Parts: sequence; C-alpha cells; structure tokens
Amino acid sequence: MQKPEPCFLLSIIVFLCVFVLSVHSQNDDSSVMAILKKALNSKSDLQWNGSDICKWKYIQCNSGRVTAIHISSLNLQGSLPKELVQLSQLQTFQCNNNGLTGPVPYMPKSLQRLAINNNNFNSMPNDFFIGMTNLVDIRIDYNPFSQWNVPDSLQDCASLTSFSGMNASFVGKIPGFFGKDGPFQGLVYLALCFNYLEGELPGSFSGISLERLLVNGQQSMNKLNGTIAVLKNMTSLKQIWVHGNSFIGQIPDLSNHDQLSDVSLRDNQLTGVIPPSLTSLTSLTVVNLTNNYLQGSPPMFKDGVRVDNDMVNGNNRFCTKDIGKPCSPLVNTLLSAVEPLGYPKKLADSWKGNDPCPRGNDEWLGIVCSASPVNISVINFQHMGFSGNISPKFASLTSVTKLLFANNSLTGIIPSELTSMPLLKELDVSNNNLYGKVPSFRPEVVVKIDGNPNIGKDPPPASDSGDNSRGEVKKNTVGIIVGIVAGVVILLGLVAALFIKSRRKKLKHVSKVQIPNEIEVHPHHFEDGNAKKVSVAGGGIGSFSPSSSAQNGEAGNMVFSIQVLREVTDNFNERNILGRGGFGTVYKGELHDGTKIAVKRMESGIMGEGEKGLSEFKSEIAVLTKVRHRHLVALLGHCLDGNERLLVYEYMPQGPLSKHLFECKEDEGSKPLEWKRRLIIALDVARGVEYLHGLAQQIFIHRDLKPSNILLGDDMRAKVSDFGLVRLVPEGQASFETRLAGTFGYLAPEYAVTGRVTTKVDVYSYGVILMEMITGRKAIDNSQPEENVHLVTWFRRMLLNRDSFRKIIDPAIDVEEEALDSFRTVAELAGHCCAREPYQRPDMSNVVNVLAPLVEIWKPTDSSPADIYGLDLDMSLPQALHNWQALEGMSTINTSTSTTLRTGDYTQSSLPPAGGFANSFNSMDAR
Ligand SMILES: *[C@@H]1O[C@H](CO)[C@@H](O)[C@H](O)[C@H]1NC(C)=O
Ligand SMILES: *[C@@H]1O[C@H](CO)[C@@H](O)[C@H](O)[C@H]1NC(C)=O
Ligand SMILES: *[C@@H]1O[C@H](CO)[C@@H](O)[C@H](O)[C@H]1NC(C)=O
Ligand SMILES: *[C@@H]1O[C@H](CO)[C@@H](O)[C@H](O)[C@H]1NC(C)=O
Ligand SMILES: *[C@@H]1O[C@H](CO)[C@@H](O)[C@H](O)[C@H]1NC(C)=O
Ligand SMILES: *[C@@H]1O[C@H](CO)[C@@H](O)[C@H](O)[C@H]1NC(C)=O
Repeated sequence: MQKPEPCFLLSIIVFLCVFVLSVHSQNDDSSVMAILKKALNSKSDLQWNGSDICKWKYIQCNSGRVTAIHISSLNLQGSLPKELVQLSQLQTFQCNNNGLTGPVPYMPKSLQRLAINNNNFNSMPNDFFIGMTNLVDIRIDYNPFSQWNVPDSLQDCASLTSFSGMNASFVGKIPGFFGKDGPFQGLVYLALCFNYLEGELPGSFSGISLERLLVNGQQSMNKLNGTIAVLKNMTSLKQIWVHGNSFIGQIPDLSNHDQLSDVSLRDNQLTGVIPPSLTSLTSLTVVNLTNNYLQGSPPMFKDGVRVDNDMVNGNNRFCTKDIGKPCSPLVNTLLSAVEPLGYPKKLADSWKGNDPCPRGNDEWLGIVCSASPVNISVINFQHMGFSGNISPKFASLTSVTKLLFANNSLTGIIPSELTSMPLLKELDVSNNNLYGKVPSFRPEVVVKIDGNPNIGKDPPPASDSGDNSRGEVKKNTVGIIVGIVAGVVILLGLVAALFIKSRRKKLKHVSKVQIPNEIEVHPHHFEDGNAKKVSVAGGGIGSFSPSSSAQNGEAGNMVFSIQVLREVTDNFNERNILGRGGFGTVYKGELHDGTKIAVKRMESGIMGEGEKGLSEFKSEIAVLTKVRHRHLVALLGHCLDGNERLLVYEYMPQGPLSKHLFECKEDEGSKPLEWKRRLIIALDVARGVEYLHGLAQQIFIHRDLKPSNILLGDDMRAKVSDFGLVRLVPEGQASFETRLAGTFGYLAPEYAVTGRVTTKVDVYSYGVILMEMITGRKAIDNSQPEENVHLVTWFRRMLLNRDSFRKIIDPAIDVEEEALDSFRTVAELAGHCCAREPYQRPDMSNVVNVLAPLVEIWKPTDSSPADIYGLDLDMSLPQALHNWQALEGMSTINTSTSTTLRTGDYTQSSLPPAGGFANSFNSMDAR
C-alpha cells in the first residue's frame, strides 16, 4: 500500500507538469492571439470564436502551436501587437492587403514567410531582420513607411529567395549585398520598384542567379543611373524591368540569357544600336524600348514578341521609321566608329535621321560636311568629355580631312588604320590619355599629340582588356570625387556637430572610402567656391544620409532652422536687404563660422496661395542640387517652416551685374566696368548657361537671364543666379510649352508669342545682356525716344551701319583702338544671339568658343594674378574643413592650386598634367 503511492504521486506530478507546461505554452499563443484579435478591430470577418485558437479560421497549428496566420484581404484595421514575437513557432505571417497601421513589430525568428504588403504601416525597425535566418520570402511593398535604407540586417536572412520592397520608401543605393557581396545564394526575385533609390546597379550583381530584377520607376531626383552593363553577366534573368530610370550607355550583349522573356528598358537614356543578341532571343515575349536614345536600324523582333508601340516614334534615334530597314552605310560606319566611346548621349541626341549631312539646320554634332560633293569632311569631337578608345573604323570615312579628338579623356592607342585615309590632313589627339607608338602618317598630315603623358610609351601591362575599364573609371571620376567630398563632409559635419571624441577614427574611415592619390587633384576641380559649395551643402550630390531624408530624399542640402536664419539676418532686418526679386527678398547674413550667406525669403503672399510658391521653391532646390558649376550660384541649404520658405546661397559680395552696368553713373563711388572685365563676365555667364544647357546630365533652361540675376564675387567673376523659373527639358524633347514667365526686354519673340521654350530662349536673353554690356543701356529704356526704347531693335539698326558702330559703345568705357575688333566681334555675336528665328541663334557652346579667344587676348597683364583670379577670402570654408585639412596635412586645398584652373579657363587646355585625371576633369567641367 505504501509502494504505489509515491509512484502514483509522481505520475500525477509528471502529468500535472506536462499539462501545466502544455497549457502554459498554449496559453502563451492563446493570449498572444487574443491580443492580436483585439488589436485588429475585426468586424465579423475573422470569426475567431471559441477557446481553441487552432480551430480559428486563417490559423494553422502544429502540436497546439500557431505556425501560420493568413489574414490577407480582410479589410482589417488596427495595428499589430508587439507580442507577436512570442509566437515562437510561427512560420508564415501574411496580413497583406488590409488597412493596418502603425509600426511593424518584431517577429519571431522562426518566421519563413512574411507578407505585410499593401497596408498602411508607417515604419519597420532597421534591425527587424537580425537573426531571422529562416526567412525565405519577404514582401513589404506598398506601405507608407518613412524613408529608410534597405536595412543591413537583411543580410542575416541567408535563405532568402525572394525580396519584394516596391514603393517601400527606400532611399540610398541598391545594396551590394543582394549580389555576390552578400549571403544570398538562392535569391531569384528582387523587386525594388517605385522607391527613392539612386546610384548604379551594383557590380556585385555580376554572375548571380537572379531571375527577376525589377527596379523600375525610382522617384528620387537622380533615379538609378550608370550603365546596365552588369546585366550581361546575369544570365539567369527571365525578367528585366529597369524602365523609368536614368540609365545610360548601350544595351549589353544578352546572348547567354536563354530564359529571358520580359525586358522593359523604356524611359531611360540608353544609346547605341540594339544588339542582335536581343532581337534573336528565342525566349523573348515582351520588349519595351520607347523613350531612349537608341540608334541604328529600328529592330525587328520575331512574331509573337510584344513590342511597345511607340518604340520608333517615341523619342528614339533610329535612323529610319521603317522597322528592320538598314541604315545608310555612312551612318553605320559612324555608329560603329563611336561604339568604343560608349555611344555618347550627346551624339545620340543630335544624330537624327539617316543622313549625317542633312540639309538645313539639323547638323549632326561633331560632323562637318563639305558642300560638293556633299560628304563628311571633318570629325570634330573636341572638348566633348568622351572617354574610351579611338575606333579604327574612322578609317573607312575616306572623305574626311580632319580628325579632331583633342581635349577628351581618350585612352588606348592611335589605330594605325587611320594612316590609310587618303584625304587626311590633320589628326589632333592632344590632351587625352593615349599611349603607344604614333603610327606613321603621310608627311603632309599634321599630327598633334601634345598633352598625352604616355604617348610613345608601351601600353601598360595587362592592358588588353583594360582600356575600356580605364575609360570607365575616368568617366566616373568626377562623380567619385564629388561623392568622396560629399561623404567626407558628412563625416566632418558629424565630427564638428557632435564633438565625437574619436575624430581620428572617423578620418580613418574617410580614407577607407578611398581618397587615394587623386586627392591632391581635387582642389583643382573644386577651386573657386565649388569645394565650398559641396562642402557646406553637406553632401548634396551623390550621397544621401538618412537624417536628411525628411526632404523627400531629394535635396540633401543643409537644412537651416528658421531660428538660425532669423538670428544671422538680425530678424530679417531691412539693413541686411541685398535685393528684392520676383519671388522674395534677399538678405545678407553671417554664420557663426564666418561664412557669409545670402538668404532668400520667399514671399508667400506674393507667390499666391501655397502650392505655386512651393513649386518654385522646390524647383530651385531641385535644380541647384543637381547642377553645380563654378559659374552658377551655389545653394547652401534651405529652410521650410510653416509658411516660411527660405533658400540659403553663397554670398556674392559685389552684387548683381546690373548695379555695375547701370547704376555706377549715378553713384560716383564705383567705377564703370572696363571692357576686359565685361568680356570675362560675359564668358563666365556663357559657361554657366552652357553647362545648364547640356553639360549637366539633363537640359535645363533658365528662362530669366538678365543682369540682375548675374552676381559678381569680389574677384569680379560672375555666377548666374535665380533658378526659380528653370525648367528641365523633358527627356528627348527639344522644346515644350510652358506658362510664360520671364522679364520683358529679354523674352525671345517666339517664346513671348507661343510659350514654347527651347535653349535658344536663353541664348536670346543672353544676347540682350551682351548688348547691354556693350552699350551700357537697359533692355528697355523709357528715357529714349520712342524708336530707340527697345534695345535689340536699336542695336540691330546701329550694327548695320559701320559708321554708327562706335556710337553704340558705352560712353563709360575707354575704347582702345586695338579693342575695337573685339567690340565688333561681340556686337555681331550679340546680334546673332538675338536673331529672330531660334535656329539662327548660336548654341551657348558656340558663344563660349567665340568669347574664349577674346578673353585670352585680353588677359589682364596690369594687375597681379592673385588680384584678378583672387582667392575668395570672403567665403571661407567652414571651420570644420580647416580642421580636417590640418589633420590630413592637406593645407593646399584652397591656396596654391586655386589659380591653376582659372588660367585653364582662359586657355582652355593648359592644366598641368596631374595624371589623366586633371585632363578628364578639364574636359568635362572646366570648360
Ligand atoms: C463568432 O462570434 C460572432 C460574434 O461574436 C458571431 O457573429 C459569429 O456567428 C460567431 N461565429 C461562429 C462560427 O460561431
Ligand atoms: C506608393 O504608395 C503610395 C501610398 O503608400 C501611393 O500614394 C503611391 O501612388 C504609390 N506609388 C506608386 C508608384 O505606386
Ligand atoms: C562579367 O564577368 C566577367 C568574368 O567574370 C568579368 O570580367 C566582367 O567584368 C563582367 N562584366 C560586367 C559588366 O560585370
Ligand atoms: C510593354 O509593352 C507592352 C506592349 O505595349 C505592354 O502591354 C506592357 O504593359 C509594357 N510593359 C511595361 C513594363 O511597360
Ligand atoms: C562619301 O564618303 C564615303 C566614305 O566616307 C564614300 O564611301 C562615299 O562614296 C562618299 N559619297 C559621295 C557622294 O561622295
Ligand atoms: C549617379 O547619380 C549619383 C547621384 O545619385 C551621382 O553622384 C553619380 O555621379 C551618378 N553617376 C553617373 C555615372 O552619372
């Protein structure tokens, strides 16, 4: 009787324990499920009744534990409770297509499938994925998250096969860890469409077995860019959706993509001929190519392939509209000759039709034709920013007499085939980075090879395949430098702002981001305020810090608080007013570090109710963060606070050109501008506008050029300002219609009449400015007799008559006899700029070409260089930069080197050979 008792007791205890344990664990899931049920605000849909949660609808259990929750499309409201993480056996959680709100809570590590897409969740922790090693399938698309980077913690999900994060507010770059750099061996589906991503497709994608890549429709200002070359090595792809981005370059060879079926490349800036590997893909079912700059013959796809219907008409540059019809032999030769240059977009943009020597005004950029017989006589690719190799194919252009490739970043050798060109008289390859022996040309051929440090030397070892990549590296140097500087500056900002003790560590970090030897070159590049612009702006270009994400992922400029701006302008004191414009009042201010700034306070009253003013404001930020040039005023930051909209610029101490042209007569204190100064200013402005018109990646039209929008520094060098009316030309279009805006007297006639704008609208305004600079008269001068009120009309009339010519010159200028020629040249240029028909007006690049030699002739000799090319002492860099320089021992950044490029400015090509690096920059931006 005594024996069984302990046994019985024991078993009871054991039973109880088991019971309690199981009840306890089930209780756990039950209580979590009860919390979930309550949190979901279910109407009657869920039918989660009864005490056994495993019998609940939409729930799956295993051994009493919840393993799956499928509550998709149930019109659910509410938010998810943080207790969900306690469902430690949960493998599947799907709540997609509901109206759930709030943050996404942490989930248990057992989870394999997560679908929370199409809800109203507002955030997800960055470390959500830490330890989530079982996740295979992730869908978080279409939630109004606040902006974030693709989280690094995702790298814990090594089993991932599918990641879908469309319209999930991602900013920054596509992380390299989705490619070879990361842990995902089995990733087959990656969808990142409709985010705010920027930068290039990661090189680490090369060789991975991804099957579907969807990155279309980025909404960031820059979108995804660079080439799509890496797709060549992603041979498992079935679907490629990269449309609606800023990709450039050619479509890569796709001949190994035997499963590829759906290819959407439309709405990019792709150039070059369609590779036969694409047209002959047997697996292809859909291909979309509209709205690129694709060249050559319009491709013929096999029956059954759906092609987007606007492929031919929709802004491509096919040589004909007849699908499958070959291009003329001359066009084919030209296209194959520019292939090794990567089919530059500039050329693609301008080369329309099937005849490189068209009649009329549609001349092909870089191609000069002789009149009879009509044929190509000169290839002029000078100063085009090209990289890559010189193609031997040029040799087939037997009618050519001059091959001009000077001032680019070309690499490789001079092909010996060129020696066979029968009519060749001149080959100019100066200022590139060519190497190798110069082949022997006929003695009468002039061969110019200056400025190629390695010419005559052997090719660098292992350079067989290296040529191209070297070219590419160069192409990106500017971007890289800007990126580096921006990155450095972000770090600096952190250092300065937060007083982080580990300053040295940070800087080590900087050097890890690779500021290699090139660093001593970049002061050249950013001389003249550019370095300051970039630095003060805090990484406006190229990088994007999460902290600045509040601005829609766009600007990345420094955000000033209204308090700071009130303080530095003495509460917008009248005394500090620098000027008033159509959109607001500009105040002077000085930051604590001594940086002088100009603050434009938009007048919301004037600008009308809200939206319109806001769009001007955003337009200006958008433009100025995108275009940065030494002759465009730099935006340092902005402030948006309630109704207050403020823009912060670099301060231009000498104020607007209008003051110097028109006001000095009354105000005896200031001297009238000498002619040579005016020439230099005219050239500065021309260069700034030329850059806006196309040297930047896209085409911008200023629409409001006038002397009051041209600002002068203490060195009397000019920068164009006021970008409130700037319009970005829609891709692939030359003109478009807008609401008329601008200033009377400067409006091109066709614009005033029809509202159609082209870059020639700016050329017209520029011509008026030239006339004002020559004559000292205002565009509209009501003090003149009726017939002379309109400057352009009067000027044209005076110009016709040789005798009256001297009378147009501003009486305030001392005219030296030998300067008369340059007056005449500029006067004629001004006349052409104001030609009645837009096509009769020159391009801004032509203007630069006319003015540059004049300025060179008139290079001042009387004052010391430092005086003229001066160091903008007024615009001292933030203290942080100095600290950094001191630490890095780079005290040269703003001193000894700063005159070099300016000299280059005059002579176009005289940068010292600081490696090919300087050259490449010179040709891209220094012009
Ligand atoms: C569950 O409860 C709701 C109300 O609480 C009721 O309308 C519904 O009929 C119940 N469903 C089941 C299956 O009992
Ligand atoms: C992205 O989602 C938001 C709402 O979250 C929606 O308003 C917007 O239209 C979506 N964008 C695209 C391109 O689908
Ligand atoms: C493609 O792969 C080859 C071989 O690995 C490599 O040399 C090449 O650079 C890759 N091309 C691209 C565009 O990634
Ligand atoms: C591509 O073009 C086809 C045919 O016009 C169209 O049905 C399809 O929606 C397009 N696909 C994309 C991704 O634009
Ligand atoms: C034009 O030059 C090409 C070679 O560049 C030649 O093949 C062609 O016959 C020439 N055409 C005419 C009309 O002379
Ligand atoms: C791509 O865009 C980034 C900014 O998002 C810019 O810094 C970079 O220079 C661009 N790269 C190219 C090749 O245009």
